[in-house]
Amino acid sequence: MKVNAAIPIDVLAHYLEAPAELLPDLPIILSYLDELGPSPKDVYDLMTGLDLPQRFKILDLGCGKGAIDIFLAQQFNCSIRGIDAFPPFINYAIKKAKDFKLDQVCEFECNDIKKELKKNSQYDVVIFVSVGDIYGDYIETLGEIRKVIKPQGYLIIEDGFLKENKINRGFHEYGCYSQLIDLLSHFQDNIMKERLSSTEEIINQNKRNNAALEKGANELLKRYPEKDGLVNRYLEAQKKESEIIEQDLGIGLWVIQKGLN
Ligand SMILES: C[S@@+](CC[C@H](N)C(=O)[O-])C[C@H]1O[C@@H](n2cnc3c(N)ncnc32)[C@H](O)[C@@H]1O
Repeated sequence: MKVNAAIPIDVLAHYLEAPAELLPDLPIILSYLDELGPSPKDVYDLMTGLDLPQRFKILDLGCGKGAIDIFLAQQFNCSIRGIDAFPPFINYAIKKAKDFKLDQVCEFECNDIKKELKKNSQYDVVIFVSVGDIYGDYIETLGEIRKVIKPQGYLIIEDGFLKENKINRGFHEYGCYSQLIDLLSHFQDNIMKERLSSTEEIINQNKRNNAALEKGANELLKRYPEKDGLVNRYLEAQKKESEIIEQDLGIGLWVIQKGLN
């Protein structure tokens, strides 16, 4: 089966942390996991109390299966546009929005974030969580995203950082907390709110996620037992990454208010 992704398959595979040959099977493996990043409730909690207009506009860049967007659309009077490069995720989000009768306020499109940003539309809130620096440079990524945020609008961003005295054991070019804060402050915007996950929260989330992946993987293997080598290597890599994250990394969610320009 071919995946008609909005970005090159090897790039998408990197962001989905899966080998490219497994991408066609990823929807089954992920069928018990909607939340591919932070908990929608945590994002909602951070957004409460922000100074936002009636029916404010949200753009979610790299929205995955739309879990955060569906949750926010149930809580707020807002309209939401979610963009992701992986067609099965977008198809899932469209169906879920319809099932929840939220299709009037949630639209989802399979597109490259970089193309979306070129449209120069303006949003009250932009969500960019668990995606990473898509331009290969953090400041450039933030700078491009800022262009679609209205003056004094908000960016909700999630990222990881190395805990003190930890060295980078791969997976991602993480710096320490103060380096990340320096990057987030580069444009002199106001870091309004911060939520740092506790190690216990990270461990519990990894446990839930890995159990959901295993359940989906078992269903795939019932249908295609010959894929066991590929699938088991993927599950092992996910567990190894979880261990490194739990031991070495902190994870934070921030609300950043853009300045007047
Ligand atoms: C770890 S998932 C996070 C999904 C979602 N933000 C969430 O929290 O559930 C990262 C997502 O970013 C998407 N992505 C990465 N680079 C992209 C790009 N250039 N354009 C569109 N989507 C992209 C991937 O397809 C993937 O679904």
